[in-house]
Amino acid sequence: MLLPSAPDVRELLARAGQPEVLRFWEQLTAEERRLLEAAVKQLEPGPLRAHCQEAATARHREQQAAPNTHRHMQPLPGEVTGSSARAEPQSLRGWRERGFHEISESRVAVLLLAGGQGTRLGVPYPKGMYDVGLPSGKTLYQIQAERIRKVQQLAEERLGKKCVVPWYIMTSEFTLEPTQKFFAQHNYFGLVKSNVVMFEQQMLPAVDFNGRIILEQKGKIAMAPDGNGGLYRALTNNRILEDMDRRGICFVHVYCVDNILVKMADPVFIGFCVEKGADCGAKVVEKAYPTEPVGVVCLVDGIYQVVEYSEVSQETVEQRNPDGRLTFNAGNICNHFFTVDFLKSVTEEFEPQLKRHIAVKKIPYVDEQGNAVRPEVPNGIKMEKFVFDVFQFSKKFVVFEVLREDEFSPLKNADSAGSKDTPSTARRALLWQHYRWALQAGAHFLDSNNMRIPHLTRHQEAEEPPAVCEISALVSCEGEGLEEYLKDREFRSPLLLTEEALTALGQCQ
Ligand code: UTP
Repeated sequence: MLLPSAPDVRELLARAGQPEVLRFWEQLTAEERRLLEAAVKQLEPGPLRAHCQEAATARHREQQAAPNTHRHMQPLPGEVTGSSARAEPQSLRGWRERGFHEISESRVAVLLLAGGQGTRLGVPYPKGMYDVGLPSGKTLYQIQAERIRKVQQLAEERLGKKCVVPWYIMTSEFTLEPTQKFFAQHNYFGLVKSNVVMFEQQMLPAVDFNGRIILEQKGKIAMAPDGNGGLYRALTNNRILEDMDRRGICFVHVYCVDNILVKMADPVFIGFCVEKGADCGAKVVEKAYPTEPVGVVCLVDGIYQVVEYSEVSQETVEQRNPDGRLTFNAGNICNHFFTVDFLKSVTEEFEPQLKRHIAVKKIPYVDEQGNAVRPEVPNGIKMEKFVFDVFQFSKKFVVFEVLREDEFSPLKNADSAGSKDTPSTARRALLWQHYRWALQAGAHFLDSNNMRIPHLTRHQEAEEPPAVCEISALVSCEGEGLEEYLKDREFRSPLLLTEEALTALGQCQ
């Protein structure tokens, strides 16, 4: 038996200017009606109307306007920047010491942004569950969990104090449940369950180019997470900053799920930011080439921000310093340091001022006859906030440049989509790094004829390393501690260096 139409839901949608959401109401089952009603009741008519109108007008404005190129971009002043490659060894040591000190005092947390839908990668599960094809078969989540365990262990060994680096994981409706199940199935990858805090970001309806809410099914609104800048609202909604306060956390290292080389709670970066007295910091990599489509961190009219590649004139993109380096070369990798106090100021005061960006996407929908359609071309808009749009509110902002080959290789696209940021490039980036660590530690690799494979240290993302070597994060975080086991020894490729393998090596010395 069909239920009568829901007058309060009808009224809510009328007030939001979206009555057509119920256009298939008569055809829905009782359960479908219940679910649609529940979804609509989550929305508030005023903000919903504003959201839909804003999406359509922003898209219109963007189409009409000439590309917005920033004329007042200024490079980052030297005093706010640091570099892992150019710093004096003594400075690096000092930052590392400071970082480990803060970690050992349990004042540092890591926060993973994992609410994205990963549409370009195109798998039906969260990106963190992806296995890029390493010899160990480890997923991104497992690699990250083990890096947390290792950094805790290193801090404890150095400072003789037990410590915890809590892991906050922002998920969305798409990723929460599978992520929870995955962690439970894998026993939290050896972490203490109560130190892994998952929370959900908000979802917003996707709209078509006329500002009409898109129906994904006859009784289901197409919803999308509100961008990684949805973090700030999610922190409030889920009382995450209170949880951090309870644990005594002062500093938070925020990062994206898809960077296979990410250093968790990187002591050098944390130490650098803390020593500089920063409330907000960004890790960057040097742009690979002038026209690389990444955002750059810079000043615009005296305000720190990330400027998208598309907003910069060709002349500015090509501009170089006397030393030959690009003037605007601080490529943003979405890897940030925040003090908890800064996060409080954003959530309590500035969050409503964050810009909403429009993302034009292919959104599955039902046509007027109710047929499901998978569009070939973009047909709708998702509105997103960006995590880095808060730099403008910082009182003391700093930037730390790191080497791309050591710290950045994102997984964005399927292998079938080309050669950039794919499972293959991510896997190779990690294997090249571990191969370099093994060579630095004095290892030699043998081929199947027991002949030594000539060393090759030049990193070539397009090619496999000459020998396959994967080193568990539980063995080494950044190549440390390997020499005593690997020096002057020969190994057959592939080498999988686990904790057990290391123990065995130690015994036969
Ligand atoms: P991307 O912008 O690469 O988006 O996210 P995505 O969802 O992973 O992939 P596409 O664009 O659909 O192919 C960068 C980081 O921000 C997180 C992602 O999980 C990733 O770690 N993110 C993105 C969120 O946490 N929430 C969002 O709403 C969007």
